[in-house]
Amino acid sequence: MDTSCDETSIAILSPQKNLLANIISSQVKLHAPHGGVVPEIASRAHLNNLPWVLNQALQEAGISLSQITGIAVTTSPGLIGCLLVGLTCAKTLAYSLKIPFTTVHHLKAHLFSPFLVHEETYPFLGLVVSGGHTAFYEVKSFGQVKALGQTVDDAAGEAYDKVAKLLGLGYPGGPIIDKLAAEGNPHAFKFTRARVKKGSNYMSFSGLKTAVSLLVKSQKKVTDTFKKDLAASFQREVVETLIEKCTLLLGSSKCLAVSGGVAVNSLLRHRLEEYAAEKNIRLALPPPKLCTDNGAMVAYVGERQLELGELAHWDANALATSALEANHGTN
Ligand code: KG4
Ligand code: ZN
Repeated sequence: MDTSCDETSIAILSPQKNLLANIISSQVKLHAPHGGVVPEIASRAHLNNLPWVLNQALQEAGISLSQITGIAVTTSPGLIGCLLVGLTCAKTLAYSLKIPFTTVHHLKAHLFSPFLVHEETYPFLGLVVSGGHTAFYEVKSFGQVKALGQTVDDAAGEAYDKVAKLLGLGYPGGPIIDKLAAEGNPHAFKFTRARVKKGSNYMSFSGLKTAVSLLVKSQKKVTDTFKKDLAASFQREVVETLIEKCTLLLGSSKCLAVSGGVAVNSLLRHRLEEYAAEKNIRLALPPPKLCTDNGAMVAYVGERQLELGELAHWDANALATSALEANHGTN
């Protein structure tokens, strides 16, 4: 179950780890008029949505509630009110059904989501690129996750959303810019790539966002061609920054696993495929529905945690922010 931001999602895995249902109720329409996610609206929407999302998941899986043997819920990081709604629902179900429950780190769920459809390959370089995070991890096993580097300011998805707002394109910005960029010239504008420090594992997207803002302000008239060219040039810069970091951090990994909402991006997917072929490594890239927030990825990690005996206690709480630590887990 995931209620960390603006998607209410419940998935059901069979004992053989087959995905029986993955219901995702998006709140985009509720938040779009505000140009971004409004936390209180999101929490209340989760409260409304969870009962029918649960019923629909059970229906799709063709099972009854009494057949559920364990529950996994995202408890960090995310919008605190949203996380608490999900956690309360999970505790209530676990208590009334007398079954165990486990709490899942949202980034760990993204990190392993490619393996819902690809074979797990260790060690792998993981890239989680979403609206809230852009981070690289070296993963030696399910429990050995080492944070390698991340953005020091805006996440890539956040930059997409802000640039779309600057161009008056609506929310969420990622899919809109992705579409617009297809009609623009990616070389129309050149940006100076932000260097946190030479050769650093860290990256920054806030300077790029400011450069876009200055370009928009310098225009007497913001034409459609300008918007398309800017979208294409901005997108190229984001994608090439990520590919550059992949090269820096790949090490001896034989697999690159990419997840999070920005992993839906058409140019990023194309460049990752080229990159993996060039380096002769396996690319584990989930289909778009498993890139953005979804319950399936939480069920996948949660099922493993339950197997390992990583059970949550009744006093489990939610945390708005928390890093995905090295050696998070047991093996
Ligand atoms: O993983 P996600 O659903 O939620 C977070 O955990 O943040 O990611 C949402 C982010 C948004 O910023 C959205 O603009 C971005 O993913 N996104 C995209 C695309 N589709 C969604 N960014 C670029 N291109 C896309 N096609
Ligand atoms: Zn996410």
